[in-house]
Amino acid sequence: MKILVTGGAGYIGSIATEVLLGKGHEVVVFDNLSQGHRAAVPNEAHWVQGDLAAVDEIRATVREQRPDAVMHFAARSLVGQSMDAPFLYLRDNVTQGLNLMEACIEFGVPRFILSSTANLFGAPEALLIDEQYPVAPGSPYGESKWMLERALHWLSETKGLRYACLRYFNAAGASESRGEHHSPETHLIPLVLQAASGQREGITVFGNDYPTPDGTCVRDYVHVLDLAEAHALALDVLDAGNCTYNLGNGEGFSVREVINAAQRVTGVEIPTVLGPRRAGDPARLVASSQRIRDDLGWKPVYTDLDEIISSAWRWHQQHPNGYVD
Ligand SMILES: NC(=O)c1ccc[n+]([C@@H]2O[C@H](COP(=O)([O-])OP(=O)(O)OC[C@H]3O[C@@H](n4cnc5c(N)ncnc54)[C@H](O)[C@@H]3O)[C@@H](O)[C@H]2O)c1
Repeated sequence: MKILVTGGAGYIGSIATEVLLGKGHEVVVFDNLSQGHRAAVPNEAHWVQGDLAAVDEIRATVREQRPDAVMHFAARSLVGQSMDAPFLYLRDNVTQGLNLMEACIEFGVPRFILSSTANLFGAPEALLIDEQYPVAPGSPYGESKWMLERALHWLSETKGLRYACLRYFNAAGASESRGEHHSPETHLIPLVLQAASGQREGITVFGNDYPTPDGTCVRDYVHVLDLAEAHALALDVLDAGNCTYNLGNGEGFSVREVINAAQRVTGVEIPTVLGPRRAGDPARLVASSQRIRDDLGWKPVYTDLDEIISSAWRWHQQHPNGYVD
């Protein structure tokens, strides 16, 4: 298939592009480079520098390229920023997604896969969060993804668009040639690895009095290559119906466990300081991915925390400054 990947210069989108190309798909990457890196885009992909905020740019790309499917990774995705600047999310994330959806409807693109998020579930109490768990977004960021999920529902009802909503928990790890490079970096594993390589002094652990075994927050780290596989599987079955899946490793790891694993992997002692809890941080956020396992046979390959961190560490060592643009 020919697939339009928005945000294909970003972390998950560039690795999904790599995996899709490896499966013989043709890929068109559309990205404004606001966060992403041109160097992250595989050479075999067709490159379009464009902004989803500019209706004419995305319309022209969809009209000219006529993709069979769209994977929509492009978005702002900082929970904290969304609390400070909600319109960047409630307006921009939503409007830009709608611009893309409208172009898909106008030019007859039949399939759409949305990058959604665990932030849809706010501060859940269940040990494992499945797709039946009530949606109660934890921030304007999560709300913006929920609004796009609902838009897809209605565009399917009214216009016949087929869609998949894939709700990632914490994406982590790297492929052999692509990895995570955000500015600012807010994700725990790259931060810990920066500390291990001396690029930052240490790590602040935000709260050690949560109701978890070691008192630090527990999260579900799913390898980015496993996420990419889930996209490829969803693409294959979209014609049979719409789907929504929670994507996680199925096992939670605490902040303390991540730091300990990173120390094992890197052989470096990572200094930590204790900070206060961050507002809105749930104690535990772990997915049940039983539905996608049952429906599509998806099975994460990289479930071992040390292995996930090792892949990120290999990439970090080869690219200590990330992508050099
Ligand atoms: N990283 C995670 O752990 C995680 C978890 C849950 C959901 N998600 C979602 O997955 C998607 C990808 O996440 P990521 O970590 O790869 O993010 P990223 O910031 O690395 O990539 C996003 C890409 O989109 C591009 N972009 C942003 N706005 C654009 C616009 N208006 N027009 C064109 N391009 C634009 C950026 O330049 C960037 O290359 C996001 O939608 C995010 O909300 C990520």
